[in-house]
Amino acid sequence: MKNRIKDILKTTAKEQEITVEGWIRTKRDSKNLCFFELSDGSSLKNLQIIIDKEKYNLTAEIDRLSTGASAAITGILVESPGKNQSVELQGQSIEVIGEASPETYPLQKKRHSFEFLREIAHLRPRTNTFAAVTRVRSTLSFAVHKFFQENDFVYVHTPIISASDAEGAGEMFQITTLPMENVPMVDGEVDYSKDFFGKPANLTVSGQLEGEIYATALKDIYTFGPTFRAENSNTSRHLAEFWMIEPEMAFCTLEGNMEIAEKFLKYVLQYVLDNSKEDMNFFNSFVQKGIIDDIKHVIKSPFTHLTYTEAVDILLKADVKFEFPVEWGHDLQSEHERYLTEKVYNGPVILTDYPQGIKAFYMKQNDDGKTVRAMDILVPRLGEIIGGSERESDLEKLKTRLSEQDLDPKDYWWYLELRQYGTVPHSGFGLGFERLVQYVTGMQNIRDVIPFPRTVGSAEF
Ligand code: 4AD
Ligand code: MG
Repeated sequence: MKNRIKDILKTTAKEQEITVEGWIRTKRDSKNLCFFELSDGSSLKNLQIIIDKEKYNLTAEIDRLSTGASAAITGILVESPGKNQSVELQGQSIEVIGEASPETYPLQKKRHSFEFLREIAHLRPRTNTFAAVTRVRSTLSFAVHKFFQENDFVYVHTPIISASDAEGAGEMFQITTLPMENVPMVDGEVDYSKDFFGKPANLTVSGQLEGEIYATALKDIYTFGPTFRAENSNTSRHLAEFWMIEPEMAFCTLEGNMEIAEKFLKYVLQYVLDNSKEDMNFFNSFVQKGIIDDIKHVIKSPFTHLTYTEAVDILLKADVKFEFPVEWGHDLQSEHERYLTEKVYNGPVILTDYPQGIKAFYMKQNDDGKTVRAMDILVPRLGEIIGGSERESDLEKLKTRLSEQDLDPKDYWWYLELRQYGTVPHSGFGLGFERLVQYVTGMQNIRDVIPFPRTVGSAEF
């Protein structure tokens, strides 16, 4: 492995010759000395490099290096007299690898707005914020796998192309190889027998239904992959392509489901505090003040449990003017979710037993005939971060629910057979991975926690 700046900054072995590769962040040039800050993305802190221009005859190389340029610099690592770093490099030779014209390079030393940086998503990982988000995202994905693997969940790869609408919400991106300019028709309808799969197909909105197949064989499984929703919602919490983690547990009721979800969330939060200290301190100081203490508070307090109906009562009595009215039977808006988590409970809340009319067909019905065994986990600053439920394990009830939602039971024949052959109570949930990254970093907009956001009207890069 090459020298990474993260390790060099921690080193105590001084006075040794090393070569460091990276990109110039800043340059300060004077008559005799030149100072560079070099970054290789391994840490927030850069390596300071000082070059005695006359002594090493490096004026020509230095002139070619400006912010954004890449270089390999060799020199002696020494203790730094400066108070911002413990070591610095006394550069003795420079290999200029790629120049970056200072006239056109878009990333200047000043702070750029996140909106502007979205337009240059190919360069934004070179900024402190996006490099930190990217590293935290990577740490969090590792923590997700670590939690499930340590708890004997089997990682199942569910398909990205699917013929069924897992959520029944009709927000799917259709995929086809039929020629758009000359679609084959039969009896006035599109002839899908000529399409690639011989029938309509879509990008998946969730791996849950396929996950249930494997849970009813392997007991505890999880998926972690991209999902796609053609939701026309231009909010700071919605993407058209997002990553979701979906565990599914057999022989598990809603209570067990909630227990695992809470344990899981707390585990990944603790993991990121322990393993991304430098980046978390950055978010704590520059993005969302006090976020580390907030997260610690969440880790040590039990989540509040409340039914949807109880929540609606609280909201109806609330002494605030909501933009959207609260009414039993309607979905809660993010403002309502935030009121509950921020104003009433100051922490995560698990809402259960939602009206069946606003939830997916697969959720287990309660005896009241009105509500289903759903659970959403809401967190301050964001609202819904997890959505899950106990699944309907009764074949007949499930068939009825499909018909009530105008879904054709024929399309779900294999899903129904799971209830026909050895049905068991089973449950699961979905965690929106970008919402988790938002929650952990304090980043306001979901477009800034995924490398290449896809939203309505935007699929650049
Ligand atoms: O609540 P949702 O729709 O639940 C499901 O998809 C179930 N199949 C999960 C399950 O039980 N296995 O989505 C789950 C989570 C939400 O709580 C939210 O965090 C995230 O996925 N999510 C989105 N994240 C970003 N952009 C979107 N458009 C999202 N839609 C849902
Ligand atoms: Mg949901």
